[in-house]
Amino acid sequence: MTRTRRTFDTRGIAFGCDYNPEQWGPEVWDEDIALMIEAGVDLVAINIFGWSHLEPHRGEYRFDRLDDIMDRLAADGIGVNLGTGTASTPAWLTREHPDLLPMAVDGTRRYPGGRQAFCPSSPVYREHALRLTAAVAERYGAHPALRLWHVSNEIGCHNALCYCDVSADAFRRWLADRYVDVDTLNAAWGTAFWSQSYGEWEEILPPRATLSSRNPAQLLDFHRFSSDELLGHYRAEADVIRSRSEAPITTNFMVTAHIDNLDYWSWAADMDVVANDHYLDHRLGDPTTELAFAADLSRGLAGGDPWLLMEHSTGAVNWQPLNLAKQPGQMMRNTLTHVARGADGACFFQWRASVQGSEKFHSAMLPHAGTDSAMWRDVVELGGAIERLAEVAGSRVDAAVALVFSWESWWAADGESRPSQALGYLDLVHAAYGALHAEGLTVDVVAPGADLSRYSLVVVPGLHLVREQDAVVLTDWIAAGGTALVTFSSGIVDEDDRVYVGGYGGPFRDALGVRVEEFAPVARETTLTLSDGSTATLWSERSRATTAEVVASFADGPSTGAPAITRNRWGLGEAWYLATLPEPAAYRSLVARLAADAGVRPAAEVDGDAASVDVVRRRGAAASYLFVVNHALVDATVATSGTDLVTGATADGSLVVPAGAVRVVRETPAASTGS
Ligand code: GAL
Repeated sequence: MTRTRRTFDTRGIAFGCDYNPEQWGPEVWDEDIALMIEAGVDLVAINIFGWSHLEPHRGEYRFDRLDDIMDRLAADGIGVNLGTGTASTPAWLTREHPDLLPMAVDGTRRYPGGRQAFCPSSPVYREHALRLTAAVAERYGAHPALRLWHVSNEIGCHNALCYCDVSADAFRRWLADRYVDVDTLNAAWGTAFWSQSYGEWEEILPPRATLSSRNPAQLLDFHRFSSDELLGHYRAEADVIRSRSEAPITTNFMVTAHIDNLDYWSWAADMDVVANDHYLDHRLGDPTTELAFAADLSRGLAGGDPWLLMEHSTGAVNWQPLNLAKQPGQMMRNTLTHVARGADGACFFQWRASVQGSEKFHSAMLPHAGTDSAMWRDVVELGGAIERLAEVAGSRVDAAVALVFSWESWWAADGESRPSQALGYLDLVHAAYGALHAEGLTVDVVAPGADLSRYSLVVVPGLHLVREQDAVVLTDWIAAGGTALVTFSSGIVDEDDRVYVGGYGGPFRDALGVRVEEFAPVARETTLTLSDGSTATLWSERSRATTAEVVASFADGPSTGAPAITRNRWGLGEAWYLATLPEPAAYRSLVARLAADAGVRPAAEVDGDAASVDVVRRRGAAASYLFVVNHALVDATVATSGTDLVTGATADGSLVVPAGAVRVVRETPAASTGS
């Protein structure tokens, strides 16, 4: 499909929120808009959950309230990111068609009363959703407030995997397209195992709950199918809009670590602007590292172009077991971390804190306490800072390091029967990214097989599933002079989840110069010691170096004597291999050594608690901007010259960034080396 991307002009760095005026009467709307203007809000997402308001009964539309709010926003120059309203079905629809309700893995239905209560493959849901989309697009497609279309909401957040009979039919059609005949499917799924061979398409089911573990290749394809099915729905709504409106179209991704159901690499090209929602999750290790990773991955999905942070929170969320308030200054630091890493807009969920419903304890820009609150003052301060960053819009982030990330590897590696349940794909990704981040290196997150020519260092954490042709892109790039670090659990299976035999590492084996014979994971509480005195956890393996130099070996544990860190000359480049999970300090020194070898440096030198200071450069046509986000409790001194857009101060050679503060320096030209 070739389609021209429509441009989303953020007009500076957009600042905004989800706005749910339907939760209040019009008596608060004027106050809402006046306060939005005070805070500098210029983009609001509305009608996200509008269906039952717009169509209270089948076919009977009521647009009066939405007309009113659109007109008021237009009159005050606030742009609208307009939802199609299809994210949550109205009660009349599920009552009429209970068969469109989604089915869980155990065969039980999920009922209305929450949100997203529909099967993604339901033709009935699709028909009604497109009818609503058409009505909304026709009515508001040329409205002066309209800036951006917001298809549905966080597509697949709750209902990505549906196991009902309608889904089963759709899954079979998807499989027939992919494999053409059943024997080819049998070969791809390895159904010779446990007497699972199929004779007819009709015998095939979604991977519903079983007594034992399920066929991993079937699970993998079900993930692919489910992601494609929802993308199909996105496309259907987007097509309806495109023929009725010129405005750009997107939906909000969930590049946050607990959602793994959609392969966003296959979605990104469909977005006129990539948009992401990010919520801190303290269960995922160091929050500032995960935040930076999510932002870098969002930029990766945007192909390096500016992207939009569609949702994050001013304070606590309400859906984690313990919902932590943000520290003073953390909102500014976190929001500007996204901007530093390429976002040209930062929006919150939501404008005014709800007083009813299951999100009534979720933070908002305008909290329950009202405007006489630290939260509101912080929001106004942030809005002011964002306004002063307008000239940054359109610039692109400099990065000389790439990290290869894959949803398919996530699905395949985190299967039901694996060498160690203690280790997940994301642990490997976060550990590698964390080491690079702590070294102050800016990282582009790229898809397997992506062009690597602009990078000096490439890190490949746990790329469990890899296609041979994608592996060749990496090994050829190394041969041409690149430096790569590949970790254990990479190159284990092909796209059918079939093991590459002859030594693990499969298509990376020759370039790495290592032949892995057996996995030997260890318990979480076991510490492994390496010959260089450093320690590691969770993983070891029995292998031998064929052509690689052994940099460190296991000094104890089940793989004593086997290589733990190796380095192999491959063509003009170097392929490093890591056969364990080093403790963070050791991981950092390893990547520091590789970065030094590859000639990669942080965007600026930092004096202070450098590992807790983000330094990222965005480069525009007329100027470059050094973002410094000091997450530390101590002041940092950064080598830079230029004008700080946040405070207006000037720096000549160095700038003190107080503990917890953010500075954005428009650099004087000679200062902007490094990346
Ligand atoms: C997102 C969603 C919003 C709101 C928010 C709360 O998942 O798009 O509607 O629920 O989370 O954190």
